[in-house]
This record gives sequence, structure tokens and C-alpha cells, in this order.
Amino acid sequence: MPDVIERLRQALGSKAVLTRDDESLEDYGRDESGLGPFPADCAALCSSAEEVDAVLAIALETNTPVTPRGAGSGKVGGALPTRGGIVLSTEAMQKIIEIDPDDLVAVVQPGVITGDLQTAVEELNLFYPPDPASLEYCSLGGNAAANAGGPRAFKYGVTREYVLGMEVSLMSQERLRFGRRTSKGVTGYDMVAGFVGSEGTFGVTTELTLKLLPKPPAVQTLLAVFPSLSAAGGAISALIKDGFRPRTMELMDKVAIDAVRQAHTSPIPKGSYAATLIEIDGDEEGLDEALIRLGMTLDESGASDVLVAQNEAERRRLWQCRRLISPTLTEACRHKVSEDICVPRGAMIEMIRRIEALENTYPFTIGCYGHAGDGNLHVNIMCDDDPADPTVKAQIDACVRELFQHTIDLRGTLSGEHGIGLCKRDYMPMEQGPALLEWQRRWKAMWDPRDLLNPGKVLPARPRACHE
Ligand code: LAC
Ligand code: ZN
Repeated sequence: MPDVIERLRQALGSKAVLTRDDESLEDYGRDESGLGPFPADCAALCSSAEEVDAVLAIALETNTPVTPRGAGSGKVGGALPTRGGIVLSTEAMQKIIEIDPDDLVAVVQPGVITGDLQTAVEELNLFYPPDPASLEYCSLGGNAAANAGGPRAFKYGVTREYVLGMEVSLMSQERLRFGRRTSKGVTGYDMVAGFVGSEGTFGVTTELTLKLLPKPPAVQTLLAVFPSLSAAGGAISALIKDGFRPRTMELMDKVAIDAVRQAHTSPIPKGSYAATLIEIDGDEEGLDEALIRLGMTLDESGASDVLVAQNEAERRRLWQCRRLISPTLTEACRHKVSEDICVPRGAMIEMIRRIEALENTYPFTIGCYGHAGDGNLHVNIMCDDDPADPTVKAQIDACVRELFQHTIDLRGTLSGEHGIGLCKRDYMPMEQGPALLEWQRRWKAMWDPRDLLNPGKVLPARPRACHE
């Protein structure tokens, strides 16, 4: 390692290389999965695409594992340096290179914070819809790596829909640009589709060209309270059936509501069993009419209370409450396993029923919330016992497996938006067969034949043959 560190210092300058002598290196061994810390040997803080190229070249020449990292807000351990080596951080690459209102594109470096881009484009009356709950501190490079979603995905789709073009640095010592700046284009294979969501295992993003939309003129936000989670789920299904297209359709159960109430001030009424947070956008008059229709459908679906945000401050308070659920649930127990299943919209009520049944089978509190309009539920298994205890560990694993089996039986998928990373890797065979997994291993090997770039993520190891 001394040779690697010396070479990195020469390429990046010594201030940009953290080693085990630096206390802050430990931060680069953690993310929001709660796993780790996994100690890296060093972190290379890159400021330019050329520096990213240099770090990958050093990794290749010295056969050192290299783990790309954005803001470290990932939920599944995708940025953890499980095999040590170099953490390649793009957090310092924070430049918004351009915002073009005519072409409706923004060009950014990967370390730009998602919320900062949103603020910058909104000042020009433009709109960048993807809004992961961590938008105040997650970065666009990480969003592209994970194909991040968020509440507004219900109407506007996930990050993939907004990445038009990319520049990536590869283990082959090439920097490749692909995709486009135009609003449509079908020239060659869709490389962007392959790289978005590849969780930093194919290459390192050095630049993104993102699609923008005109900013919707008006927004209304409301919270409806229900006597049960299935009633709230039923209301969401009824709204979708009625042809409503709000920009968000969020669901929160009692565990999530109570945890946020206890830890922060919350506008959600005390004693609420479940709530939906709905936001609509469009032109002012259309919204007033939609709000009336929405209120009627919510009443008919059994809502016991409907709060409409009267101003921007009230709207922010409702969203703040929603965004705090994940960190608050983490604080509320000793160990939290946070799942991110997604089922077809028509199966959502049945999935909620099955999640409630899981809570009666296992000795865990289950906090459930998420983007119910998309059938995407964050199911949090909360445990107060020592997760290292073999009995507890086995119970957690059985509970996760049962949750995943129900998801797959209902034709859903293991992750709606957080990705697979390390946490869900070994469950992949529950959803994908050996041939599909093998093709994906070949795909990964094409970009990184020596398996040095973010090794051990996404794909489970090949099963060993009996005679091996
Ligand atoms: C959320 C994150 C956990 O929706 O995806 O809060
Ligand atoms: Zn989410």
C-alpha cells in the first residue's frame, strides 16, 4: 500500500489523499446502510475527471480494489470498501457546468448535491424532478449510480428518465462519453441505461447531462389520516383508479408517524394510524378543482382528517416530517434492516396485508412507509436485541426472506430504488435465475475484467460446483 499512497499523492497532491493516519478516513468506510465501518487503506478525493482517470490507472497497475463513492448516503452498502484499498470520492466535483433553458438540460459534475441543482434550476423557472429523501445531502453521481427514485417518481419517473448523457472513466484507462443532449435519440445501444443503476461497478461517472422540465406553476400538498394502513393503501388505489395523477402518493404507518412525533415536532395529528402525503402540481385553476375531487375521494375512502398545507412553510413542515422517517427509525431501535420492495400497483393492498402478518410472526416492530403510489414500500425491520446473536440474526434473515418471497410471489422486485449493493446481493437468486445472473457477471467482467472496481457488490458469487 505505501507505493499506492505515494503514487496517489503524486497524482492528486497529498491533501487529497487520506490515509489511516487521518481520523476522517473512517467516514469513508460507512454509509447509511449501518454496515461497517469497513476500513479503506486510503481515500482519494478527486477534483477532476483527469484525477479520476489517474486513480483508476493506479488501482489497475497496482491491482488494488477501488470503491467509488458519492456523498455516502446509500442505503445498501454500495459504496463500502469491503476489500479495503482505495475509496475514490467524487464529493469535491461540485460544479454545475451549465444550465441551458433552451435545450432544457443541465450539465453537472457528479458531486453536485441534488437539492443544490434543484434550487439552481428553479431560479430559472425550470425543474429537476428526482427527489430522493436525502436530497439535501446526496449527490447526482450517486443518484445516477443507484438510479435513485423519490416521492415525485410517481408522476415524473426516476433518475434514469433524466440522465440523457454521461461521461465515465473506465478501468480500461479510457474515458467514454455516451448518450445525448437531444430530447430523443436512438443512435447505437442505450449505454446510459446500462450505466445508470450499475452502482459504481462498471465505471466512475465524471459528468452528467440531465434533462430538465419547465417548473410547474403551482403545487398543493395535503396529508390525509386514516384509521388503518390498509385503509390508507385502499385510498391510494382508489385515487389511481379514478385517474388521479398527483406527483406524489406517499404512505406512512403508525410506527413511522409515532417515531417522527416522538423525535421531532410533527403536524401529523396524534393517534393517527396511517397517513398519506399527496402532492399535486399544474396550473392554479386546475389544482383548485383537483383538490376538491381529491378531498371527496379521500372522504369516501375513509380518511378521518385531511390537512391541506396553506403556505410554503406548512408544506415544508409536512415534507420535513416525511423525509425524517428513515433517520428517525434508525435512531428508534438498536438495529434496523431497511428493505425497499416494490410490487405491481394492483398488489399493494395484498402486500400491506402480508407485511402486517409478518409483524405477528416475528419478534420485531415493522415500520412501513414509502412511495405507495408506485407500489414501492420501505419495510423497516426494527430489532432491539443484539443482531450479532445467532438466533436474532437467523430470525432477521428469515423475516427478510419471507418478505422477499411475498414480494416475488406478487410479481414484485427486491428493490424499487435503493439498489442491491452489499445488503441484498445474496438474496438476488430469489428473484433472478442462474443464467440471468451469469450474463450480468459477464457484463460486469467486460468493463472490469480483474474485478477491482467496487468488487463484491450487486452480484452474488458464482455457486461452487459440488466437486470443487
Ligand atoms: C425514503 C428513502 C429511505 O423514501 O428512500 O425516505
Ligand atoms: Zn424512498
